[in-house]
Amino acid sequence: MAPIKKPVHGGDVHAASRELGRDVTELVDFSASINPLGPSPKVWRAITGARHLVPHYPDPECWELRQALASRWRIEPARILMGNGSIELIYALPRALKINHLVLVQPTFSEYAASMARTGGRVTAMYADRDEQYALPIDRLCRLLERPAKGSRTPDGILLCNPNSPTGQACGADDVMKLARAAQRRGVWLIIDETFADYCPERSILPLASAWSRVVVLRSLTKFYGLPGLRVGYAVTAPAVIQQLRRELPPWSVNAMGQAAALAALRDTAHARKSLRFVEKERTRMAKELAGLLGCTLFPAHANFLFMELPRGWHGKKLTEQLRREGLLIRDCSSVPGANRRSIRIAVRSRQDNDRLLKALSGMLSESRS
Ligand SMILES: Cc1ncc(COP(=O)(O)O)c(C=O)c1O
Repeated sequence: MAPIKKPVHGGDVHAASRELGRDVTELVDFSASINPLGPSPKVWRAITGARHLVPHYPDPECWELRQALASRWRIEPARILMGNGSIELIYALPRALKINHLVLVQPTFSEYAASMARTGGRVTAMYADRDEQYALPIDRLCRLLERPAKGSRTPDGILLCNPNSPTGQACGADDVMKLARAAQRRGVWLIIDETFADYCPERSILPLASAWSRVVVLRSLTKFYGLPGLRVGYAVTAPAVIQQLRRELPPWSVNAMGQAAALAALRDTAHARKSLRFVEKERTRMAKELAGLLGCTLFPAHANFLFMELPRGWHGKKLTEQLRREGLLIRDCSSVPGANRRSIRIAVRSRQDNDRLLKALSGMLSESRS
């Protein structure tokens, strides 16, 4: 049976398992950036404890979960909308907010453009500069809003991924607020995807998002809370915008197990602190080791992954395929607009997994030199 055509993403362990004839548990996935410590152990107990909910429809309001998030962020529950992963919200946004022309910063997550294509909208890319280590071009975005070039039309929306994937770059909350003020003045939607912001909470504007009626912040329980298989994400914005978005979603977005697991994950603050400490330490070690491989270039990292360039003469796709044959999955970024053919992204995993990858990588790179 021919596979259904779909966009390429990291984390497709199922396709790799079928292709390599290996069980999913034999693969080491560096291609999706999920918390290397996994979900809180309390999640497993919550899931078994929620068994009695399976014969019922899930709560369409996600009431308890929204209450928990509201108290965590000190905002009203009316400002929160849950989705089947943040992806469901990304797909609902263009239609809900009538965004026909979106500006985004490349290289970035491909689904923003895909969701615009679905509604027939237009996307304009602003390229982050490799020579500036792919720093997010906040000043250029502000200028675009405040002093648009002659004859050019102001977009209806700007999408900023902070920290950005796949580059790992992030800007400070002050910069995002500057952009939010400019967007608000021009009546342009500003969507901030903070899927990876749990790794640098000081850069998040979520607690302040309520101050603007044109700002939408997206969050996910996938990466930091380690729940990709359960599909839980949310949007934070003004109550009237929540209503607009809600109309674009099906009645039940998050299933009962997802709601129970997300609640347990959010409550386990000790596991969250431990995860943060672990990722910071292991990311620093990995970055140092990778930068030590001759000819490799590492970029600043603010989440749980590293974006890098291979030595000259190498191609991201070729190395990804070579590692895949050994059961090691990384993200080839050679075809991401704005990146180059040597670009790859590697998630930070356990020390043991990381050492395995480092060994395989340095072997492959040195073989090609000899
Ligand atoms: C930047 C970014 N935003 C959003 C998503 C979607 O995440 P989810 O639907 O699992 O919340 C992803 C997934 O890879 C991502 O990388």
